[in-house]
Amino acid sequence: MISQSFIQELLDRVDIVDVIDRHIPLKKAGANYTACCPFHSEKTPSFTVSPTKQFYHCFGCSAHGNAIGFLIEYNGLTFLEAVADLAARVGMQVPPQQSGSHSTTVESEPGLGEAGGEPHRNDSESVSKQLIEVTHDAARFYRQQLRHSDSAIAYLKMRGITGATAGHFAIGYAPTGWHNLEGAFGAQAGKARQALLAKAGLVIENADGKYYDRFRDRIMFPIVNLKGVIVGFGGRVLEHGEPKYLNSPETPLFQKGRELYNLCAARRAIRQAGRVLVVEGYMDVVALYQHGIEYAVAALGTATTPYHIQKLVRQTDNVVFCFDGDAAGKKAAWRALEASVAQLKDGKNISFLFLPEGEDPDSYVGKFGREAFEELLEQTLPLSVFLFRELSARVDLKTSEGRAKLVQDARPLLAQVAAPGLALMLLKRLAELSGLSQNEVEGLLKIRRVSASPSRGRATRPQPASPYQWLMQVLLYEPKYIEKLNRELLAHDHESAEEVAALRALVEFIDSNPHVGKNSAMPSVIAYFRSSSHRVLLENAGSKTLGWDSDIDLEAEFTGAMARLSEIRRKQRMSMLHGKALSALTPEEKQELQRTAY
Ligand code: UTP
Ligand code: MN
Repeated sequence: MISQSFIQELLDRVDIVDVIDRHIPLKKAGANYTACCPFHSEKTPSFTVSPTKQFYHCFGCSAHGNAIGFLIEYNGLTFLEAVADLAARVGMQVPPQQSGSHSTTVESEPGLGEAGGEPHRNDSESVSKQLIEVTHDAARFYRQQLRHSDSAIAYLKMRGITGATAGHFAIGYAPTGWHNLEGAFGAQAGKARQALLAKAGLVIENADGKYYDRFRDRIMFPIVNLKGVIVGFGGRVLEHGEPKYLNSPETPLFQKGRELYNLCAARRAIRQAGRVLVVEGYMDVVALYQHGIEYAVAALGTATTPYHIQKLVRQTDNVVFCFDGDAAGKKAAWRALEASVAQLKDGKNISFLFLPEGEDPDSYVGKFGREAFEELLEQTLPLSVFLFRELSARVDLKTSEGRAKLVQDARPLLAQVAAPGLALMLLKRLAELSGLSQNEVEGLLKIRRVSASPSRGRATRPQPASPYQWLMQVLLYEPKYIEKLNRELLAHDHESAEEVAALRALVEFIDSNPHVGKNSAMPSVIAYFRSSSHRVLLENAGSKTLGWDSDIDLEAEFTGAMARLSEIRRKQRMSMLHGKALSALTPEEKQELQRTAY
């Protein structure tokens, strides 16, 4: 924990106008400064920065905060990162912290809260500065080289990349040959410079202490962190060769598991779109951008990590993972799901899009265009659906062993879910699939949760076992409720065929005899159904209502029965949809899954 007095002193020393102006150019307007708001989409500036109050406020979207808050929101930094960033600017030393947090998110675990490549203070700070410098120099060099390489330009053209797109991503070219960087830096290229280049992962030292270029004859994609600093590169061979992509090694600046390609530049587009699309490759990101989809990012040749998720959900409420439809894509998606469950907060949606086999986002958007691709984004599988679809596929749900295994398989995942709403939803779904009650599943999982649906209304009378019987009771007691009855709920239900039939017969009877009984339909019903196959069910229901007294809350009984029935219908429908093969689902059904699941 950093002391409040330190924070205060820090905020006294920094000027919020400088801090913000570095990221979005501010214009003086009277005593304040303004700009178009970076946190929502607008054409006329309503984002205001007050130099006297050291505060920003947007009159459009109500975003507001101090300098620390701005860095957290705009750069997606953690509190500690934002403080360290500001402190470094004004030359203050962040006091060593005591650990005092008990939260279980990644953020506060020791060491995990630090941003990848966070420059450390003191000695290492100047090293970081130098590393950033050589990396930027190298990026500039690669870009110059691209202009002079016909083969690299031809390759990009062949991939459909325009000059403007290449410029946007600062794409470059590392020429053939072993000592280009050394040559490029000319007189400066002393031993110290070489050591720095080696530390930045750009040159490699061989056994004889000689240095050679790591990237040769490759298209270079600079990787930029959330501070706008180039921390590494991905390099693609022009034609064939191994490896297809070579990435910078881990360096003090660059930790692969923490960076996402294009996240920095895509932030505004992500805010505007209200979602981020996570794809697998550099070229997917670039091609999507070229087609007008600017909110895509990619992991850097690693599986999705919790750090990635954490960074992503800070930027937006909706994260869509896009994977190939093949087995490898499924596996990658499962890894992403595993990385996500502990990071999820209620209100954040994670979903999955599987492309047809043989396609990646690059090829798909190239063939079918932006609109077709964005249509796919309307039919993604919510995390919960994907989770149970995969787990159910591993067992035979028709056997009790299979259902028991399902509960056990779900256990490690569900145990990590911290978001109470999501946890409850998953628990309910697991109960449905396993045929157990929610309590039984909880018992098996040994997860204790507060029930989100406290029993409402009067709990004195035990509810009927079947909502059909319940509805019969209400209708027999007070036929007028027929007017409010949702007839769709009376569709065939093979699990309760007899009850449905009896209820429908009763409804028909009341429909055709609107004046049946003043307070109770019982006498005429008994007479009418005397020799019907529904007689017993209806009589039983009727006899239950004899015990009802006048202060019974009929409205609550009726809505309660309807709610139970709709819930049963919903479950049946969801089971049907969940059970259907992905390819057999219509777009409407996919959307339905998305709407009704998490
Ligand atoms: P893909 O092999 O799917 O490549 O790797 P791609 O993005 O479709 O590339 P193109 O279209 O052939 O140019 C996806 C990602 O996996 C990482 C890279 O980050 C790549 O973008 N990767 C792949 C590597 O790190 N090394 C490799 O050798 C291959
Ligand atoms: Mn590709």
